[in-house]
Amino acid sequence: MSKDSTAKVLSVAFLLCVICSILVSAAAVGLRERQERNKLEEKNKNILQAAGLYEVDIPVEDQFSKIQTRIVDLQTGEFTAEFDTKTFDSRARARDPETSYRISSDLDLAAIKTRSRYMDVYLVMDNDILQQLILPVHGKGLWSTMYGFISLANDFSTVNGFAFYEHGETPGLGGEIDNPSWKKQWPGKKVYDEAGKTRIEVLKGTVDKNSQDAIYQADGLAGATLTARGVGNLLKYWMGDNGYKPFIDKLKTAGVKQ
Ligand SMILES: Cc1cc2nc3c(=O)[nH]c(=O)nc-3n(C[C@H](O)[C@H](O)[C@H](O)COP(=O)(O)O)c2cc1C
Repeated sequence: MSKDSTAKVLSVAFLLCVICSILVSAAAVGLRERQERNKLEEKNKNILQAAGLYEVDIPVEDQFSKIQTRIVDLQTGEFTAEFDTKTFDSRARARDPETSYRISSDLDLAAIKTRSRYMDVYLVMDNDILQQLILPVHGKGLWSTMYGFISLANDFSTVNGFAFYEHGETPGLGGEIDNPSWKKQWPGKKVYDEAGKTRIEVLKGTVDKNSQDAIYQADGLAGATLTARGVGNLLKYWMGDNGYKPFIDKLKTAGVKQ
C-alpha cells in the first residue's frame, strides 16, 4: 500500500478519530465529579453572596457550614425530609411530572408555567437561632429566565440581599440587574406590610423617598423596563400566596424545628 493511498489516509483519519474520542470521553468522565463540585461551590457562593456573608479568602465550604439546607413543600408550607438536600435540584423536580406543579395562568406572575412543588431553602443559623432565610427565586425577564436568591432577615420581611446568578438579559440594558449600584438598593426594603400583604415592587422610574410606600419599592431600570418588570413580578409571585408565603407564615409561628 503506497504511503498516500486512499485506504491509508482513511485508516489514519479513523485511528485519529478513535484516539480523540477516547481522550474526550475520558476527560468528560474524569472531570465530571470536579464539574459537579464546582457547580455546587458556585451555587453555595451565590447563596452566601445573597446573604452578604461571602468572603473571598475563606473557602466556600467553610463559610457554608453555618448554613442549613432544608427542603420545603410549597403546597403545605412545611419542611419535608423526602429528599436528599445534597442532590436536590428544583429545576429537575419542576420537569418531573411527579413533583412539578402547574401554575394557573392567572397566578403565574413570574411567567414560568410550572415550578417544583418542593424548593430548597437556606437557613443561616447562630446557636440554633435563625438569622437569615435565603430563598431561590426565578422568573421571565425580556429574553430569559432569571435565577436568583433573596435573603430575608429574621423578621421574614426585611431584605438583606437580592441578586441574580443566571440570566440572558442584554448587557447594559436588562443586564443592569447585576450592576452593584442597582443591587445596593435592596437591603432594608420590606417584602410584607404590617398586615402581611405582599407589597414588594419594582417601579418604572425611581422611588420617591418621601413616599410611605418607598420601603416596599425599588427603582426600575431606564431602557430596560421589561426586565425590571419581570424582576418585580417574580418577586411578587415567589413571595406571595402561591410561592413562599404559606411557608414563611408557618415558620413565624412554628419555628425552624417544625
Ligand atoms: C437589541 C436590544 C436589546 C434589548 N434588551 C433589553 C433587555 O435586556 N431588557 C429590557 O427590558 N429591554 C431591552 N430592550 C429594550 C426593550 O425593547 C424596550 O424598549 C425597553 O424595555 C423599554 O424600556 P423603557 O421604557 O425604560 O425604555 C432591548 C432593545 C434592543 C433593541
